[in-house]
Amino acid sequence: MHSVRIALYPGSFDPPTHGHLSIIQRGLKIFDGLTVAVLKNPAKDAVFSVEERVDLLRGALRSDQRVQVKTFSGLLVKFAQEEGVNTILRGLRAVSDFEYEFQMANMNRKLDNGIETLFMMTGEDYFYISSRFVRDVARLGGDVAGLVPPNVLEALRRKFGPPQGAQK
Ligand code: PNS
Repeated sequence: MHSVRIALYPGSFDPPTHGHLSIIQRGLKIFDGLTVAVLKNPAKDAVFSVEERVDLLRGALRSDQRVQVKTFSGLLVKFAQEEGVNTILRGLRAVSDFEYEFQMANMNRKLDNGIETLFMMTGEDYFYISSRFVRDVARLGGDVAGLVPPNVLEALRRKFGPPQGAQK
């Protein structure tokens, strides 16, 4: 009998990008379902509140029944334990991500060796996209169309106005 396999896909998602959505879509080819776990962090330069990020993710995912969006605070492995999930899914963009991800995966394994971290390579179209650059570019009047889903683009334009030099 096939048991239902769920993975936890954690992150800050400030804001969600096409890079995140690509990992979610591809993760769903391996897992029956995903729980997207949004960290409730009090980051000083945050653009969106945690509630806004959850709404943006849900909007971008168009209520795909296989994906749940939840928030967590504290240790990720504790949240995974509470959820009864033993796999953490992370995207890897470039070599520069590797060291941080390697440390995090090993720290999480040290905290609970029953939890595995699985990495997926970000699609080649998205390897340069990061939430931080999207935030900075949008804040500085640059155009991030094509880097984020339409509902996130709208939300960024509501916060920062249309990109400078744009037609509308
Ligand atoms: O999108 P991000 O900012 O790269 O995601 C980082 C995240 C949320 C996965 C990471 O910061 C995290 O798991 N934070 C929770 C605290 C924790 O468990 N720390 C120990 C692991 S090093």
